[in-house]
This record gives sequence, structure tokens and C-alpha cells, in this order.
Amino acid sequence: MKKYNIAVCGATGVVGRKMMKVLEERGIPVDNFYPMASYRSAGKTVVFNGKEYTVEELNEHSFDKPIDFALFSAGGSTSLKFSPIAAEHGTVVIDNSSAFRMYDDVPLVVPEVNPEDAFKHHNIIANPNCSTIQAVVALKPVYDRYGIERIVYSTYQAVSGAGQNGIKDLEEGLKGASPQKFPRQIAFNCIPEIDVFTDNGYTKEEMKMVNETRKIMGDQSLRITATTVRVPVYTCHSESINVETKKPFDMKDVFELYRSCEYLTLEDDMDKPSYPTALEHADQDGVFVGRLRRDFSVENGLNMWVVSDNLRKGAATNAVQILELLISRDK
Ligand code: A2P
Repeated sequence: MKKYNIAVCGATGVVGRKMMKVLEERGIPVDNFYPMASYRSAGKTVVFNGKEYTVEELNEHSFDKPIDFALFSAGGSTSLKFSPIAAEHGTVVIDNSSAFRMYDDVPLVVPEVNPEDAFKHHNIIANPNCSTIQAVVALKPVYDRYGIERIVYSTYQAVSGAGQNGIKDLEEGLKGASPQKFPRQIAFNCIPEIDVFTDNGYTKEEMKMVNETRKIMGDQSLRITATTVRVPVYTCHSESINVETKKPFDMKDVFELYRSCEYLTLEDDMDKPSYPTALEHADQDGVFVGRLRRDFSVENGLNMWVVSDNLRKGAATNAVQILELLISRDK
């Protein structure tokens, strides 16, 4: 079996560490492995596939050696600076930051939704925003069967989405410390401000959900609005999604559609009752859907509740799935 030289850039971070774990779990054939991070971590060690590796400082010369794939999760400015250098050296970058997501020549890929786009790359492929990934997976069955007119997203996002410092803000905040990462205290609170505000009154996170959904679905006509909220949960984003479909639907058929869908899990039994929650699905791969019900206030309205681990399917697992797609055609 062919083996690959793989780098993880941001290997000491919350997502970077998860990327290493997912690479191991999925048995990606790795020859040489290069964990990279900032100068602060250079010389530290990490364990990958049972072997100890020394973390390298990511710099202009990191890609002078042959590296087939680099998974980046070291922030937007780091990606902007180093992904093009990697790409010029022939390394295929799978970038978890938002830096390149809206570039026309950079595919934005969720393997369950638009796998073919992955092969149109020019050495940089963008991994979408965590909230967008789970949303488009959950919406795909409805989109394919009934068409979608309009989407209303409301998110309940975990602190780990903001990295190590986000987790620390919740941990320390619970003990009474002032916030260092978030704009307000996150302990015992909900903050409707994720990423910075833009001129139209939406946050950047909200606009990411709008624009990235359209790009991944390949449908600029989709009408979408979003409210994104940080909540005191460590891992797993939860989302309320309200959809208006183009064609009418029968709720029985919708349940059947989701029950038989192989790339997500329906957890919806009103007799128990059962529905997915963040705590129950932390550290699991996949997208979990529940609370499927008709929205009686509009024609062809549907509500759903969607939970997924933001560090796994929302970041590391999706990135590794993209890598698997590329490897699958590299014979
Ligand atoms: P480091 O640990 O050396 O700061 P998180 O999102 O959990 O905060 O992690 C961010 C990741 O991105 C860490 O691995 C961090 O490395 C890395 N990182 C941050 N800035 C840079 C940079 N300028 N160059 C390389 N890696 C960086």
C-alpha cells in the first residue's frame, strides 16, 4: 500500500490533536509524519501511531522536504502565510481555517455532499466551518428530495470551537474568573457573538454559514439567515434548523428518508422520547438528527435539531475524509 508524508500544522492545538487521533483511527497510511506548530511549541513532543515525534516550528522552509499532504488548523493568518508556500512546493493543503473558503479556485468540501469538488483543487482545499458542515449533511436528504427555498439557522456552539483558550474561559469562568477569549463570561451564559461583527449586523460566523452553505450545495439561489450563539458546552455544536422546501412533503416520508440515510443518524422517537444532545455525542463521529417536525406556520416548513462533534465531523474527521477521497483516486 502506498504511504504518504503528512504534516499536521497546528499539531498542539485542540483540532490539530484531534486530526492526529483521527488519522490514527482511520488507518491513514503514513510514511513520514511532521507535527508543526508555532515557535512556542518547537521541541515539544507528540505521540502519533505509538511513536514519539518532535514538534517543528512552521516556517518558510517547512515544505522544502517532500510532504504529500498538510492538514492545517493553526488559524487564518497562519494559513494565509504558509498554505501558499506549501502548495507551491507541491503539498496538497487541507485547510481548516476560513482563510481560503470563499476563493473561487479553492474547493470547499463536505464529502457526503460535494465529493467531486475535492478533485478540482490547485493544491489547497478548504474544510468548511464546523457549524456549516453538520448543517449541510443534515439538509442534504431534504435538498435532494424536495428542494430547498429558505433556511433559518440557530446554533448553540461549544467553547472548544474557539480552541484551547475557549475551553479555558469556560473552566476558569466556572470558578469566577473574567473572560479572556470570549466577549462576555461564558459560564452560565449564552453569547450571540461568534467571530467579529460585519457591516450588515451579522457576525462573520453567521455569514460563513450563509455563504458556505451556498457554495457547498452549489446553489447561490438559497435564501438563508443565521443566528450563531456560544453556549457553555465543551464539545458538540447543536443547531435548530428551519427549512422551507420547494415541493410539498409528507412527514412519514421525511422520517423514512432520514431513517434510511446512511451518512447521518436519526434519533427521534417521541415515545421515549429520544433526541440527540451534545453531552451524549461528544467524541463521536457523525451527524445526529432529531426533533423532526412540521413547521405549521408556513407552507412546506420543516424543523430539525442537529448535533455533531465540532472537533470531529466539524473539523478533524471532515478533513481526514477529504484526504481519504484524494487517496482513493491516487492509484
Ligand atoms: P502553539 O501551540 O505553538 O501556539 P488552538 O486553536 O487550540 O488554540 O490551537 C492553535 C494551534 O495553532 C496550535 O497548535 C498553535 O501552536 C498553532 N499556531 C498558532 N499560531 C501559529 C503560528 N504563527 N505558526 C504555527 N502554528 C501556530
